[in-house]
Amino acid sequence: MLMSDRHRETLRSANEAAWDLVAAKYAPEVERDVALLRSGGSSLLAPERAALAPLLRACKCAVHLQCSHGADTLSLWGLGARQVIGLDFSAEMLMLARRKAELLGASATWVQADVLALPAALAGTADLVYTGKGALTWVFDLRAWAQGVVQLLAPGGHLYIYEGHPLNWIWAPDAAELRLRDEGDYFATTARVNVDFPGAFLERSASPGDAPARAFERQWGLGEVVSALAQAGLVLVRLTEHPEHFWPQFPRVPADQLQRLPHTFSLLMRRPAA
Ligand SMILES: C[S@@+](CC[C@H](N)C(=O)[O-])C[C@H]1O[C@@H](n2cnc3c(N)ncnc32)[C@H](O)[C@@H]1O
Repeated sequence: MLMSDRHRETLRSANEAAWDLVAAKYAPEVERDVALLRSGGSSLLAPERAALAPLLRACKCAVHLQCSHGADTLSLWGLGARQVIGLDFSAEMLMLARRKAELLGASATWVQADVLALPAALAGTADLVYTGKGALTWVFDLRAWAQGVVQLLAPGGHLYIYEGHPLNWIWAPDAAELRLRDEGDYFATTARVNVDFPGAFLERSASPGDAPARAFERQWGLGEVVSALAQAGLVLVRLTEHPEHFWPQFPRVPADQLQRLPHTFSLLMRRPAA
């Protein structure tokens, strides 16, 4: 279902305010992340590192979309990207990212922008666009998003996504076994309030008297994601579904049951050389 520009803007600004609030939760982790990166460590997961290592060896510029507090962005730099650009709409998150980069002396630039309205100055700058781990559900126009990704990429450049599998949306999060949540629908097309976020994440609230922060998400099927990118001009290199999670989303479900279904996917696509 198409969303009006006005409605999309209402949801976007609610989400921006929610993420700004949630940034306080990550502030105490700045020193820890810097120590990890300084010691040669990385916040990227093993499948991400394996896929990204060969791309980063020759990477002049990597752009991380929805970079949050920058740990993954700076991990791309640590793994070999000569320059990294992290983009997010949350000024508070970017402040944390900037602080980490300064402490590390990293070649990093931080851009505050909506992922659906990328600055024209970034067009064609990226050998690698990286995103995921909780990014796509905040995007309300997949077609515009995919077009933005393609515009960022230099000819021959790659997009790599490691993201929660859209099937995760249909399982009841608190159940002791995998069972459909009441409203679970893989094919749902509307944005909905995230009932767990930002409430459970907040360590500082908005000013007294303010309405509680609310955040809105939209699920996208695997076919929709790959098709939007292909229609925007990218070529599929590899799509993999993985049994691993990147966060404990179904804590009561036994591991042997979880492992029989995908919980994340990774997608590597390439912009054809000119
Ligand atoms: C779950 S976090 C992603 C974390 C990231 N994968 C990482 O670990 O580095 C989602 C991020 O998307 C950002 N975000 C959400 N909607 C956005 C939008 N429309 N434009 C730019 N950033 C957005 C939020 O501010 C937040 O930092």
